[in-house]
Amino acid sequence: MAPRKILIDTDPGQDDAFAILFALGSPAELEVVGITTVGGNVPLALTATNALKVVELAGRPDVPVYAGCPAPMVRKLITAEYVHGETGLDGADLPEPVTPLQSEHAVNFLVRTIMDAPEGELTVCTLGPMTNLAMAMTMEPRIVARLREVVLMGGGFFQGGNATPTAEFNMFVDPHAAHKVFESGVPVTMAGIDCTYTALMTPQWLDALRATGRRAAIEAANLADFYRQYGDHKFPTPARPIHDACVTGYLLAPTLYEQRQCNVTVDIVSPETIGMTVVDWWHVKGKPRNCNVLRSIDPDPFFELMLERIGSLP
Ligand code: RIB
Ligand code: CA
Repeated sequence: MAPRKILIDTDPGQDDAFAILFALGSPAELEVVGITTVGGNVPLALTATNALKVVELAGRPDVPVYAGCPAPMVRKLITAEYVHGETGLDGADLPEPVTPLQSEHAVNFLVRTIMDAPEGELTVCTLGPMTNLAMAMTMEPRIVARLREVVLMGGGFFQGGNATPTAEFNMFVDPHAAHKVFESGVPVTMAGIDCTYTALMTPQWLDALRATGRRAAIEAANLADFYRQYGDHKFPTPARPIHDACVTGYLLAPTLYEQRQCNVTVDIVSPETIGMTVVDWWHVKGKPRNCNVLRSIDPDPFFELMLERIGSLP
């Protein structure tokens, strides 16, 4: 069977790097058609450079990288250097990329690529604020019906939020973009923090990653060592959620996830809860079930698969 064609929209970010490496280490199942970058964890200039660093680390400079929107649709950009470091990829000493960014704006690339592809062929995987995808839908509404699926890391419900008590970071940074995507009618699968908090990367797993002896795996472990310094106040052990990699894991092994079709809306009006993904888990409102909500993951096979795939890179 031909590999599934995906577009990755991202704000690297150490966990974004894992998601991208995981995907590039799975060429039989996934074809990464292109990577679009957005302001998020760190400003766009850095996320764009970081995406180039990651494709070069994977030995895949052929994967085109596009710079997109530097800021959310309405609000000001909020970044997360407190988690990811000043560069966004602190922890690994990756050389400045020699591969150039594509000259086309990411939003134009998304519109052109989705309109040119056969209907239902492309899946968009968003790993950061959803600004680029929402802007593409605004620019060309016809892309909505042409997409196979949007699989996103963001949101949550039972775990509340990690940016505010009720909002997860990607949703909080650009709630208007998320609202537009969730209301568009495109099939959405959401890996929120309910799910990603069950995908906890342990120091032992990082040792196994290093033991592969492969440069990409070793540098990924170095990224993770920096990334997991944050969160002692939230997590009882040194294990940390590898959020974005749960998107790649879903594409590769969906049966590892507890999931349910629910109605999900994104709050864009309340000062206290803006960016909250309101998940109607018990279908009490009777509104359309517009989102496949990933509730949890079976961690052992997930991490075994990710070790195998990242460990297969140079
Ligand atoms: O809340 C976690 C999400 O925010 C992840 O995508 C992480 O990379 C940050 O962007
Ligand atoms: Ca991210």
